Amino acid sequence: MSVTSPLRPADQTSVDRMADPNWWRQAAVYQIYPRSFADANGDGIGDLQGITAKVPYLRELGVDAVWLSPFYPSALADGGYDVDDYRDVDPKIGTLEDFDRMVAALHEAGIKLIADIVPNHSSNRHAWFQEALTAGPGSPERDRYIFRDGRGEHGELPPTDWESVFGGPMWHRVTEPDGQPGQWYLHIFAPEQPDFNWQNRQVREDFLTTLRFWSDRGVDGFRIDVAHGLTKNLEGALPTKAELDARKHATDGFVDGSHPYWDRDEVHEIYAEWRKLFDSYDPPRTAVAEAWVHADRLARYAHPEGLGQAFNFDLLLADFDAASFREVATKGLDEAARSGASSTWVFSNHDVVRHATRYGLPVTEHPHTGKDWLLRGGARSEVDTELGERRARAATLFQLALPGSAYLYQGEELGLHEVGDLPDSARQDPSFYRNPGKEIGRDGCRVPLPWSSQGPSFGFGDGGAHLPQPAWFADYSVQSQDSTAGSTLEMYRAALKLRRELQTEERLHWLVSGHEQVLSFERPGGWVVVTNFGNEPVDLPAGEVLLASSELNEATLPGATTVWLRH
Ligand code: NOJ
Repeated sequence: MSVTSPLRPADQTSVDRMADPNWWRQAAVYQIYPRSFADANGDGIGDLQGITAKVPYLRELGVDAVWLSPFYPSALADGGYDVDDYRDVDPKIGTLEDFDRMVAALHEAGIKLIADIVPNHSSNRHAWFQEALTAGPGSPERDRYIFRDGRGEHGELPPTDWESVFGGPMWHRVTEPDGQPGQWYLHIFAPEQPDFNWQNRQVREDFLTTLRFWSDRGVDGFRIDVAHGLTKNLEGALPTKAELDARKHATDGFVDGSHPYWDRDEVHEIYAEWRKLFDSYDPPRTAVAEAWVHADRLARYAHPEGLGQAFNFDLLLADFDAASFREVATKGLDEAARSGASSTWVFSNHDVVRHATRYGLPVTEHPHTGKDWLLRGGARSEVDTELGERRARAATLFQLALPGSAYLYQGEELGLHEVGDLPDSARQDPSFYRNPGKEIGRDGCRVPLPWSSQGPSFGFGDGGAHLPQPAWFADYSVQSQDSTAGSTLEMYRAALKLRRELQTEERLHWLVSGHEQVLSFERPGGWVVVTNFGNEPVDLPAGEVLLASSELNEATLPGATTVWLRH
């Protein structure tokens, strides 16, 4: 099991924490999807002033850092992951001055800020892409992106038959300045998200400038979007989609860096350069990679000479089951020890069905992901909401007790469910529009938060909400849970406070539980964590009860419950 230096001693003050270069190793990081968090100016879209106004809430919640999803100018073709300008704030949600005030308020409250950086692609409205279109084939402007001539007699066929992540072809044909159909550009995601050419030095320099720009403005760390996609090899004969798919299945992913656009070895040269920049700050800026790669290759992203940490999505993908959770935790800690990073634990984010809902849906197979419930919200009638919430709370107390950093997604502290049955007319996600009848998209976890139980948009703002909130949101509001004993919000607050006190070394020791569906482990200092994944109650082990995810009955630990004990 991983052992590293003792960290986060219980008596560390928030001032010490802010200066500690290791602050990220066991941080609780709260993801804010800015347009759905809090709307201060009442235009229906969450904004930076809304976040600033909620800093007291975040402080009371007890998180160490906020990860802010993209807040840059954007036409929102992909929820802000289509960036028009990397060094500005979207006027729809604020100004650079609002940003500075937000950072100051967070720092004042002892909370770090992690900004989302989207380096694989810009938006098609980015000045460089517009210049590339007008400058024409062969120009230095076009070289910042990935343009190719098409196949076929008149270049009418895309250079390859690859399919974009959101469905449809991965290439889009442009109209040249002379009005004729011309070259094609590559977009791994939506057509509004052209991929950068990372072999171009200007692209590299420009991102270094961006990272410096935000670091100088007080950003403490970065979340790197699609970190495994930046470098490509499009030379020579390119494989077809079928060839790529066949190889993927045969080898369980590409483990040798030979995929033309995913997880190529050269990508780490970029991160080595970024690391030098990060380390020139005091404390060094941190980075966490979003890299969906073969488990054996994740450590390269998390390496201290690279980004320093990488998301581990295995817990998010695991069924609610003792053996699966134990395997994931063990593997994650081993991998973290190999890379020198700390592990990350995630159940929910803006891309997947909220875990309270996932755990209440019947488990069925999805043709692409193998996990139907990962992407399918489910109508409310299909979801066993009570079971889902109970399991989610148990899973969260398991997660928050693990060594490493916990990434939490806005609203999960309310036990909020996915809005699985949004009307099609309200949906915004490109994965819905590009897969008609197949994918419902990710809007269901992005519905604006309910702060109060009544009023316009449940306290989100005075001007309604940009995605419709269902009536049942009233029962999950902050107002209805604040100071309510046993509420999910109060459980998160208690857990995050206790975690700060209890967390020391990044180490755990598995205990014998005596039941197949019960996991038990101990952290240094006598912090014992027991999760009953089954349905039947089991005897409660000895010790002082610090916190439980559901009400305990006398001396038993009910099903789908986690308890924290002190020995
Ligand atoms: C991963 C982000 O989490 C997701 O929301 C986005 O659509 C893609 N990257 C493309 O940027």
